[in-house]
Amino acid sequence: MTAVEEETSEETPWHLSGNNAPVFDEVTVTELDVKGSIPSELKGRYFRNGANPQTGTSPHWFVGDGMIHGIEISEGKANWYRNRYVRTPMYANPDTDRMELYLDMEKGGFDYNVSVANTSVIGHGGEKLALEEGSFPYELSSQVETIGPHDFDGKLMTAMTAHPKICGETGELLMFGYSSLPPYLVYHRVNAEGELVQSEEITVNGPTMMHDFTVTRNHSIFMDLPAIFDMEVAMQGGMPIRWSDDYPSRFGIMPREGSDSDVKWFDVDPCYVFHTLNSYEDGDEVVVNGCRLREIWRENSDIGVSDDPDPADAPMMWEWRFNLATGGVSEKQIDDRGSEFPKIPDHLVGLTNRYGYTVTMGPGSDGAGGSIFKYDLTDGGTRTEHIFPAGHFPGEPSFVPAEGASNEDDGYLITYVYAGDTNTSYLVLLDASNVAADPVAEIHLPRRVPTGFHGSWIAD
Ligand SMILES: [Fe+2]
Repeated sequence: MTAVEEETSEETPWHLSGNNAPVFDEVTVTELDVKGSIPSELKGRYFRNGANPQTGTSPHWFVGDGMIHGIEISEGKANWYRNRYVRTPMYANPDTDRMELYLDMEKGGFDYNVSVANTSVIGHGGEKLALEEGSFPYELSSQVETIGPHDFDGKLMTAMTAHPKICGETGELLMFGYSSLPPYLVYHRVNAEGELVQSEEITVNGPTMMHDFTVTRNHSIFMDLPAIFDMEVAMQGGMPIRWSDDYPSRFGIMPREGSDSDVKWFDVDPCYVFHTLNSYEDGDEVVVNGCRLREIWRENSDIGVSDDPDPADAPMMWEWRFNLATGGVSEKQIDDRGSEFPKIPDHLVGLTNRYGYTVTMGPGSDGAGGSIFKYDLTDGGTRTEHIFPAGHFPGEPSFVPAEGASNEDDGYLITYVYAGDTNTSYLVLLDASNVAADPVAEIHLPRRVPTGFHGSWIAD
């Protein structure tokens, strides 16, 4: 049992226990102990977001106040670590029910300034944005302070997904907002300079929870899947999403500058996908890779945490192929080991990728810690693995390209790792071309970084 577990009682839910428990103070640490050597070409900041309820409690893993954990690196040194809450109306009113603030009676809709801004962080158009799918993004400074909500000069009229895609070639930001009320889905296109230039309502079958989407060089791809807003559950409080056997699973493919009538829909086997890895064009086909679950949230909205999970309930790397000429669909499982939080190099988003990186959820076999997987998707997909020591658990691996990279995997995988033996955390840098090797560097922090969601390396 780790020190952190001893502090929490038997009744504490898993999402507030162990390294999921929040930290309450905001610190700045400038003396950081480095093992190995930080590559001198890295100049920028790694920001990672996560749910960190300031009251110490929250009804679901997904709804605590957002806290950013940032590290600045330059000239082979780690300059600082800072953790800061995102200053939102929810942070300012910790004891108020979200719906009280979120419902805007005057407008007959929602106030999208009301957010916990806890899900991801991106850099685009010179701005750093903390994202959460029910609301506007929140702009952050380079020093991890909150600047305020960002509504694209008043042009954004919906919530914004926490998983927009920035085209690796054009720098455009493609995104959407979904809602429990019509219109259920609105697509947005933002140019490389950060100006919102297109918004289109897209027809879906109902109020689906669309956590992510994906793009190719010429298309935007929506996932209309059977995790549906349930009014009855909403009235009782809690996460108001349930699985529906009556709701077809389908992917919609639209030209990036197209509109609702241009969407071609493809039925797939029933599934849910929290996160895609990437998609790209291959002749007439659009290829999508992602972490597929066979279903979610049939009886309740618990995230499956079990000492003895059924492997078939885990998110598995998957491939779908959609033929735009014939309307044909094929799909296949790439791996039979579960993993999540898929990432590729940012400059390949929407373009053909060979490699993908994910992280396992929970301990490995024989008492090992968590693992980072590297997939080589050529020849049907093969997996290599960095296995962390017992009690050490990494998060989502971001890819940072090496200077003068000539191969796709010339670069580093960067993420926070929780070290249960010391109840502290470190930022690890792995060699992406040889993930099994010892880390290139570890930047050790004097305390732990709670398990979180998504982060980004934002280069200067
Ligand atoms: Fe996510």
